[in-house]
Amino acid sequence: MTASAYSIDGRTFTFETSLDQAFPTGSYVTLTGPEDHVRLGQVLRVSVEADGGGRVVTGRGNLLGDLPAADADAAAEPHAFEAVIAAADHHAVASHFGARTGSSAALALGSIQRMPAVPALLHAKGFGRHTFLCGQSGSGKTYTLGVVLERLLLETDIRIATIDPNSDYVNLESMRPQADTGLPGDEYEALATRFASEAPRIHVFGGESAPHRLRATYGRLSFRQQTMVLGLDPIADAEEYNAFVRTVRSIETPEYTLDDVMAAVRASFDDDVRRVGLRIQNLGVADQSIWAGREEAVMDVLPEDWRMLVADLGSLPSAQEGSIAAAALLGFLWEQRHHRRPLIVVIDEAHNVCPQDPIDANQALATEHVVRIAGEGRKYGIYLLLSTQRPSKVHRNVLSQCDNLLLMRMNSAADIATLAETFSFAPTPLVEQAAGFQLGEGLAAGKIAPDPLLFKSGRRFTVEGGSDVSSRWADPR
Ligand SMILES: Nc1ncnc2c1ncn2[C@@H]1O[C@H](COP(=O)(O)OP(=O)(O)OP(=O)(O)O)[C@@H](O)[C@H]1O
Ligand SMILES: [Mg+2]
Repeated sequence: MTASAYSIDGRTFTFETSLDQAFPTGSYVTLTGPEDHVRLGQVLRVSVEADGGGRVVTGRGNLLGDLPAADADAAAEPHAFEAVIAAADHHAVASHFGARTGSSAALALGSIQRMPAVPALLHAKGFGRHTFLCGQSGSGKTYTLGVVLERLLLETDIRIATIDPNSDYVNLESMRPQADTGLPGDEYEALATRFASEAPRIHVFGGESAPHRLRATYGRLSFRQQTMVLGLDPIADAEEYNAFVRTVRSIETPEYTLDDVMAAVRASFDDDVRRVGLRIQNLGVADQSIWAGREEAVMDVLPEDWRMLVADLGSLPSAQEGSIAAAALLGFLWEQRHHRRPLIVVIDEAHNVCPQDPIDANQALATEHVVRIAGEGRKYGIYLLLSTQRPSKVHRNVLSQCDNLLLMRMNSAADIATLAETFSFAPTPLVEQAAGFQLGEGLAAGKIAPDPLLFKSGRRFTVEGGSDVSSRWADPR
C-alpha cells in the first residue's frame, strides 16, 4: 500500500499507511503533491485499525511549510490537495528549521530527537517572553537550562540574573576541556575566546565559599521586607511595630545596617524598643550571614556592566537566608526596571521561590515579586525563565503568563494533563510524549519554537556545578 495523505485546509493533513511504514508522533514527513510541490509536515496523532486480515495506520498532523523552505512564512495559500507522504530526511528538516529563525539569533540547544544530524534551534527573540521549563527530577532540566544560559551568553546581549538554589550555575565562566565538549579544535578555540570575553562580567554571589558574598544592606530592603524579616505585624504587634518605626527613623542614614538598628535599640530606654531588640536577638536575625555592614552589599560590588549575576543560595547556611536573599534580589532587580535594560530572571527550583502556597513571609514576598514580574515585567524588558519539577506547586499567576514551554520527561499523567491545558499553544499529542522522554530529551514550544520541536539537549560547554551525590558506593567490590 502506498502511503497517501490529503489536506483540506492547507494547514493540517491526514494520512494512511501500512504498519511497516508508520510515522511516530512528532516525526517529520514530506508530502509531495501535484506538480511535485513538496511540503514538510509534523505527525501529531497516529492510530492503528484492523483492515480485513491486516492493519492500517491512520494519522494526522500539521503542515509546517514548503520545501525548499526559502520563505516559510509566505507558505502556499491554504488549499486542499492530495499527496504522497514519506519520512522526511535530515536535509529537509534542517533546511526548514534553518530558514525559520529569520531575524532572530538561533540558539543551538542540541539536536532534533531521532535526527542527531539536525540541530534543534531556539529563537533567541522568543526569550523576550516568559519561559517555563519543567520535567521530573533527574530529567535533565538543570543541565538543559545550563545549555540555554550558555547559548544566551554567547549569542545574545541580554543580561541574566540567576537564582540558583543548588549551586548549579556557579561555574558558567569556566570552560570544559575540549574533549568534553565534542567540538573540533578550531571551534573550541573560537568559543573559548568568546567565553573569555564574557567571563569577567559573570558575577557569582553566595556564602563563604563563593567569590563574592551574597549580602543585603538591611536599610535598603523595602520597609515591608524589613518588618517581615523580624516577623513584625502592624496589627498583631502594634506596639513593637511602632517602636521599630520610631527606632529606624531615629537613625541618621537611610541606608542603615542591622548593627545600626541594634545600636539605636541599646541607646533607648523605651520598653517596646527593647522588645524589638530582644526579637532581633531571639530570632537570630543579627547572626544571619546575609547582612551587609558598610559597602559590601551585592549592589555595591556589582559593576555597571555586569552580564550575568548568579545568586548561589545553595551555599548559604539556611533556607530562610535563601528566601530573604531571593526576595531582596528580586526587589533590587525590580527597582532597576526603569533602566529598561533587557534582563532574564532565571529561577531554578521555582516551586521553592514562587510557590502557590508560600510557607513563610519571606517566600510570600519573593512570590509577590515574581508574580509582578510575570504580569508587568515585559513592558520593562524583564523576562522570566523558570524551572521546576513540580508545575502544580508554582504560583498560578506566574504559570499562566508563560508563553514558552520547555518540557522534559514527566511521568505524572495529572501534571501532563494540566500542562497541556495551561500551555495550549503546545500541541497536546506532543505534550503527551513527555512520559516517554529519555534523559536530556524534551519538547520546545511557544515563541522560542514557533514550530514545536522535540529536542535532545546538546553538550554543555561550561563546567556543571553542584554535582549529584556519588553513586560509587554501589559499585561491585
Ligand atoms: N543532555 C545531557 N547529556 C549528558 N548528561 C546529562 C544531560 N542531561 C542531564 N544530564 C545528567 O543527568 C543528571 C540529571 O540531570 P539534571 O541534574 O539536569 O536533572 P534535573 O531535572 O535538574 O533534576 P532535579 O529535578 O533533581 O534537579 C545530571 O548528572 C546531568 O549531568
Ligand atoms: Mg535540577
